[in-house]
Amino acid sequence: MKGLILAGGHGTRLRPITYTIQKQLIPIANKAIIYYIIEDIVSAGIKEIGIVVGPNKEQVKEKVGDGSRWGCQITYIEQDEPKGLAHAILISKEFLGEDKFIMYLGDNLIKGGINQFVDNFKNGIHSLSLMLTEVPNPEDYGIALIDEQKKVITKLLEKPKAPPTNLSIVGIYGFTNEIFEAIKNIKPSWRNELEVTDAMQWMIENQSKNASFNIVTGWWKDTGSAQS
Ligand code: TTP
Repeated sequence: MKGLILAGGHGTRLRPITYTIQKQLIPIANKAIIYYIIEDIVSAGIKEIGIVVGPNKEQVKEKVGDGSRWGCQITYIEQDEPKGLAHAILISKEFLGEDKFIMYLGDNLIKGGINQFVDNFKNGIHSLSLMLTEVPNPEDYGIALIDEQKKVITKLLEKPKAPPTNLSIVGIYGFTNEIFEAIKNIKPSWRNELEVTDAMQWMIENQSKNASFNIVTGWWKDTGSAQS
């Protein structure tokens, strides 16, 4: 399996901090956010990691290096403009090849690591797997509906006005290379981005295997806003 960390984007919600430092390099308890992510991925047994970089790419490359200090190999993938999470996957096709991969948003922090999630996805038959967590304000997140047996995801909704569940999508995803077919079948959204939620919804509707999930029980933060 491979890992894909998204470390592009303008981070506009964290201005003015992000005028001088790329969001994923902001330290939390004296350590860059992206370091925690690399540690999580390596600890789950994944040694080949691609990092999508955009604005301030030189800063990220300099701070993170080639991965040798974590015992992994890092490949940088340059995104000319932040055209969406699904676009970031698309430009990583050559790096990802035929392998299953874990995508980890470069501004997410999760306390309990991802070992169990990665093990389940690696050994399972699913083409898509998500980490989900209960949130008090589901209208602000991508939301997943699950079946009665609590085994598979049946539908995804982006920031619904009247959320039918409070299970939010955390920024950590497992994909097989079937995601590429899904991305081919979606169009840019109103904000002109290729949305990964649209691609995942396409997979759920059009591909045979179901989407699995793990519930995050511990602490999770999307560090993208000043409030969080
Ligand atoms: P977001 O937080 O959705 O976007 P952003 O980082 O540009 O922030 P803002 O909305 O405040 O302007 O992105 C989630 C993660 O994915 C983050 O680590 C940046 C990364 N990303 C890319 O690498 N490429 C992209 O095209 C986008 C949209 C995000």
